[in-house]
Amino acid sequence: MKLRSATLKDYDDLLFIEEQAHLYPWPASTLYWCLEQAHLRSFVLEQAREIIGFAIYECVLDEATLLNIAIIPTAQGHGHGRRLLRDSLLALDSSIVRVFLEVRVSNEPALQLYAAEGFVEIGRRKNYYPALAGREDARVFELDLAAYCQR
Ligand SMILES: CC(C)(COP(=O)(O)OP(=O)(O)OC[C@H]1O[C@@H](n2cnc3c(N)ncnc32)[C@H](O)[C@@H]1OP(=O)(O)O)[C@@H](O)C(=O)NCCC(=O)NCCS
Repeated sequence: MKLRSATLKDYDDLLFIEEQAHLYPWPASTLYWCLEQAHLRSFVLEQAREIIGFAIYECVLDEATLLNIAIIPTAQGHGHGRRLLRDSLLALDSSIVRVFLEVRVSNEPALQLYAAEGFVEIGRRKNYYPALAGREDARVFELDLAAYCQR
Protein backbone atom coordinates (compact mmCIF):
# COMPACT_ATOMS: atom_id res chain seq x y z
CA MET A 1 0.00 0.00 0.00
CA LYS A 2 1.50 3.33 -0.99
CA LEU A 3 0.41 6.96 -0.78
CA ARG A 4 1.71 9.39 -3.38
CA SER A 5 0.78 12.80 -4.75
CA ALA A 6 -1.81 12.72 -7.53
CA THR A 7 -1.16 14.24 -10.95
CA LEU A 8 -3.32 15.02 -13.96
CA LYS A 9 -2.29 11.62 -15.36
CA ASP A 10 -4.40 10.04 -12.60
CA TYR A 11 -7.52 11.94 -13.66
CA ASP A 12 -9.31 9.01 -15.37
CA ASP A 13 -8.77 6.68 -12.41
CA LEU A 14 -9.91 9.31 -9.93
CA LEU A 15 -13.01 10.13 -11.96
CA PHE A 16 -13.93 6.45 -12.07
CA ILE A 17 -13.59 6.16 -8.28
CA GLU A 18 -15.45 9.43 -7.74
CA GLU A 19 -18.39 8.24 -9.81
CA GLN A 20 -18.47 4.80 -8.18
CA ALA A 21 -18.05 5.95 -4.59
CA HIS A 22 -20.41 8.94 -4.32
CA LEU A 23 -24.17 9.11 -4.75
CA TYR A 24 -23.69 12.73 -5.88
CA PRO A 25 -20.26 12.75 -7.56
CA TRP A 26 -18.44 15.93 -8.44
CA PRO A 27 -18.71 17.05 -12.06
CA ALA A 28 -15.70 15.79 -14.03
CA SER A 29 -14.60 19.40 -14.57
CA THR A 30 -14.37 19.99 -10.79
CA LEU A 31 -12.11 17.00 -10.34
CA TYR A 32 -9.91 18.10 -13.23
CA TRP A 33 -9.73 21.64 -11.84
CA CYS A 34 -8.66 20.28 -8.44
CA LEU A 35 -5.78 18.34 -9.96
CA GLU A 36 -4.57 21.50 -11.71
CA GLN A 37 -4.55 23.78 -8.68
CA ALA A 38 -1.28 24.52 -6.92
CA HIS A 39 -2.92 25.32 -3.58
CA LEU A 40 -4.68 21.95 -3.48
CA ARG A 41 -2.88 18.82 -2.30
CA SER A 42 -4.15 15.64 -3.90
CA PHE A 43 -3.08 12.14 -2.97
CA VAL A 44 -3.76 8.66 -4.28
CA LEU A 45 -3.55 5.38 -2.41
CA GLU A 46 -2.15 2.55 -4.51
CA GLN A 47 -2.36 -1.18 -3.98
CA ALA A 48 -0.12 -3.22 -6.27
CA ARG A 49 0.24 -0.09 -8.48
CA GLU A 50 -3.51 0.23 -8.85
CA ILE A 51 -5.22 3.35 -7.51
CA ILE A 52 -7.90 2.37 -4.98
CA GLY A 53 -8.60 5.77 -3.42
CA PHE A 54 -7.82 9.44 -3.30
CA ALA A 55 -7.95 12.45 -1.00
CA ILE A 56 -7.97 16.14 -1.92
CA TYR A 57 -7.19 19.02 0.45
CA GLU A 58 -7.38 22.77 -0.04
CA CYS A 59 -4.53 24.45 1.83
CA VAL A 60 -4.61 28.14 2.74
CA LEU A 61 -2.02 29.58 5.13
CA ASP A 62 -2.00 27.27 8.18
CA GLU A 63 -5.35 25.60 7.51
CA ALA A 64 -6.45 22.77 5.24
CA THR A 65 -9.91 21.57 4.26
CA LEU A 66 -10.47 17.98 3.23
CA LEU A 67 -12.56 18.49 0.09
CA ASN A 68 -12.91 14.86 -0.91
CA ILE A 69 -11.87 11.39 0.14
CA ALA A 70 -13.00 8.16 -1.47
CA ILE A 71 -12.11 4.50 -1.65
CA ILE A 72 -13.37 2.47 -4.58
CA PRO A 73 -16.43 0.53 -3.33
CA THR A 74 -14.91 -2.89 -4.07
CA ALA A 75 -12.05 -2.08 -1.65
CA GLN A 76 -14.08 -0.41 1.11
CA GLY A 77 -14.27 -1.86 4.61
CA HIS A 78 -10.70 -3.16 4.72
CA GLY A 79 -8.96 -0.31 6.50
CA HIS A 80 -7.87 1.51 3.34
CA GLY A 81 -9.91 4.65 4.06
CA ARG A 82 -8.30 4.98 7.48
CA ARG A 83 -4.86 4.44 5.96
CA LEU A 84 -5.52 7.02 3.25
CA LEU A 85 -6.81 9.58 5.76
CA ARG A 86 -3.94 9.04 8.20
CA ASP A 87 -1.15 9.01 5.65
CA SER A 88 -2.48 12.02 3.75
CA LEU A 89 -2.92 14.07 6.95
CA LEU A 90 0.66 13.27 7.92
CA ALA A 91 1.85 14.18 4.41
CA LEU A 92 0.42 17.72 4.54
CA ASP A 93 2.90 20.56 4.80
CA SER A 94 4.17 21.05 8.35
CA SER A 95 2.81 24.63 8.33
CA ILE A 96 -0.77 23.24 8.43
CA VAL A 97 -2.06 23.18 12.02
CA ARG A 98 -5.84 22.66 11.54
CA VAL A 99 -7.91 20.56 9.16
CA PHE A 100 -11.62 21.07 8.50
CA LEU A 101 -14.17 18.96 6.67
CA GLU A 102 -17.89 18.71 6.00
CA VAL A 103 -19.82 15.47 5.86
CA ARG A 104 -23.44 14.46 5.27
CA VAL A 105 -25.33 13.70 8.48
CA SER A 106 -26.30 10.33 6.94
CA ASN A 107 -22.74 9.28 6.01
CA GLU A 108 -22.20 6.87 8.90
CA PRO A 109 -18.96 5.23 7.63
CA ALA A 110 -17.27 8.61 7.15
CA LEU A 111 -18.61 9.98 10.46
CA GLN A 112 -17.25 6.95 12.32
CA LEU A 113 -13.90 7.24 10.61
CA TYR A 114 -13.47 10.96 11.35
CA ALA A 115 -14.53 10.57 14.98
CA ALA A 116 -12.12 7.67 15.46
CA GLU A 117 -9.26 9.74 14.05
CA GLY A 118 -9.92 12.58 16.48
CA PHE A 119 -11.96 15.06 14.43
CA VAL A 120 -14.23 17.17 16.66
CA GLU A 121 -17.62 18.50 15.52
CA ILE A 122 -17.71 22.32 15.46
CA GLY A 123 -21.01 23.04 13.73
CA ARG A 124 -23.66 22.22 11.17
CA ARG A 125 -24.67 23.66 7.82
CA LYS A 126 -28.41 23.43 7.23
CA ASN A 127 -29.60 21.92 3.94
CA TYR A 128 -26.05 21.91 2.62
CA TYR A 129 -26.23 18.88 0.31
CA PRO A 130 -28.74 17.68 -2.28
CA ALA A 131 -30.40 14.44 -1.14
CA LEU A 132 -32.88 11.88 -2.42
CA ALA A 133 -35.56 13.53 -0.29
CA GLY A 134 -34.85 17.25 -0.68
CA ARG A 135 -31.73 18.51 1.11
CA GLU A 136 -29.46 17.21 3.85
CA ASP A 137 -27.43 18.95 6.59
CA ALA A 138 -23.65 18.86 6.78
CA ARG A 139 -21.74 18.28 10.01
CA VAL A 140 -18.55 20.33 10.18
CA PHE A 141 -15.46 18.86 11.86
CA GLU A 142 -12.06 20.15 12.87
CA LEU A 143 -8.81 18.32 13.63
CA ASP A 144 -5.88 19.72 15.59
CA LEU A 145 -3.25 18.49 13.14
CA ALA A 146 -0.28 19.48 15.26
CA ALA A 147 -1.54 17.26 18.10
CA TYR A 148 -2.50 14.51 15.64
CA CYS A 149 1.03 14.35 14.25
CA GLN A 150 2.45 13.91 17.74
CA ARG A 151 0.18 11.11 18.89
C1 LIG B 1 -15.59 6.94 3.99
C2 LIG B 1 -14.65 5.95 3.28
C3 LIG B 1 -13.49 6.72 2.65
C4 LIG B 1 -14.09 4.96 4.33
O1 LIG B 1 -13.20 4.08 3.67
P1 LIG B 1 -13.15 2.51 4.03
O2 LIG B 1 -11.93 1.96 3.41
O3 LIG B 1 -14.44 1.88 3.68
O4 LIG B 1 -13.03 2.55 5.63
P2 LIG B 1 -12.11 1.62 6.55
O5 LIG B 1 -12.28 0.21 6.17
O6 LIG B 1 -10.74 2.20 6.58
O7 LIG B 1 -12.81 1.83 7.95
C5 LIG B 1 -12.36 2.86 8.84
C6 LIG B 1 -13.46 3.17 9.82
O8 LIG B 1 -14.56 3.77 9.14
C7 LIG B 1 -15.76 3.35 9.77
N1 LIG B 1 -16.54 2.56 8.81
C8 LIG B 1 -16.13 2.04 7.63
N2 LIG B 1 -17.16 1.44 7.02
C9 LIG B 1 -18.23 1.59 7.83
C10 LIG B 1 -19.60 1.20 7.75
N3 LIG B 1 -20.09 0.53 6.70
N4 LIG B 1 -20.42 1.55 8.76
C11 LIG B 1 -19.98 2.24 9.83
N5 LIG B 1 -18.67 2.62 9.98
C12 LIG B 1 -17.83 2.29 8.98
C13 LIG B 1 -15.37 2.50 10.96
O9 LIG B 1 -15.19 3.35 12.07
C14 LIG B 1 -14.04 1.96 10.51
O10 LIG B 1 -13.23 1.59 11.58
P3 LIG B 1 -13.31 0.08 12.20
O11 LIG B 1 -13.11 -0.84 11.04
O12 LIG B 1 -12.18 0.06 13.17
O13 LIG B 1 -14.66 -0.03 12.80
C15 LIG B 1 -15.41 5.10 2.22
O14 LIG B 1 -16.52 4.52 2.84
C16 LIG B 1 -15.87 5.88 1.00
O15 LIG B 1 -15.12 6.06 0.05
N6 LIG B 1 -17.13 6.33 1.03
C17 LIG B 1 -17.71 7.02 -0.14
C18 LIG B 1 -17.16 8.41 -0.30
C19 LIG B 1 -17.41 9.22 0.95
O16 LIG B 1 -18.49 9.18 1.54
N7 LIG B 1 -16.40 10.00 1.35
C20 LIG B 1 -16.48 10.86 2.52
C21 LIG B 1 -17.08 12.17 2.13
S1 LIG B 1 -17.09 13.27 3.54
